[in-house]
Amino acid sequence: MEIKYLGHSAFEIETTGKKILIDPFLVCVPNYKPENIYDIFVTHAHGDHLGNAIDISKQTGAPITAVFELANYCKSKGAKANDIGIGAWCEYSWGRGIAVPAFHSSSTPDGVYGGMPCGYILEIEGKTIYHAGDTGLNSEMKMIGEVYEPDIAMLPIGGKYTMDIEHAVKAAEWLGASEIIPMHYNTFDAISVDINDFERQIREIGKFPRIMGINENK
Ligand code: NI
Ligand code: MN
Repeated sequence: MEIKYLGHSAFEIETTGKKILIDPFLVCVPNYKPENIYDIFVTHAHGDHLGNAIDISKQTGAPITAVFELANYCKSKGAKANDIGIGAWCEYSWGRGIAVPAFHSSSTPDGVYGGMPCGYILEIEGKTIYHAGDTGLNSEMKMIGEVYEPDIAMLPIGGKYTMDIEHAVKAAEWLGASEIIPMHYNTFDAISVDINDFERQIREIGKFPRIMGINENK
């Protein structure tokens, strides 16, 4: 399995030749070419997460997994979509996934209600990955740690609209993941952070801060 950071909260995960996209807002990678995309996950309807998902679905035929209201919105725009509810496992050709709660809001750029925002747990090649979406720190993360035992957690750290570094460190403790990938920071001024603070504080709690450059693979 290979994880590639596409900037902001966007990731491409490749497993046995199949690619999965999460929150494909692609301003940081203008030359990105979607190929072999099997599934697209969108955590909520805000433009910096829904991003290019609808176009990529139309272009590749890959369905967008999203909560019911957002999936229906994507279908209304001509995309394929897999409508789900929070807390229900979904089987995929490469593994399985489940939407978990996020504490945020969700409306599309044209003002349509997007249902509840969520994060995702993905089980791929024996590893459990948690993408938190946009969220504040919340006690559901204790449940996520206990029930899903993530190996890798992708956490927003930019503050203002989501957790900041201080809260992301607490989340990392509750989640129990050994590797923490920061996201949703430094894309624009309102969410700028000193990434060295994140690195130091995550190391202090005995975890590995995986700070990924744009287009970098892990
Ligand atoms: Ni948002
Ligand atoms: Mn956001």
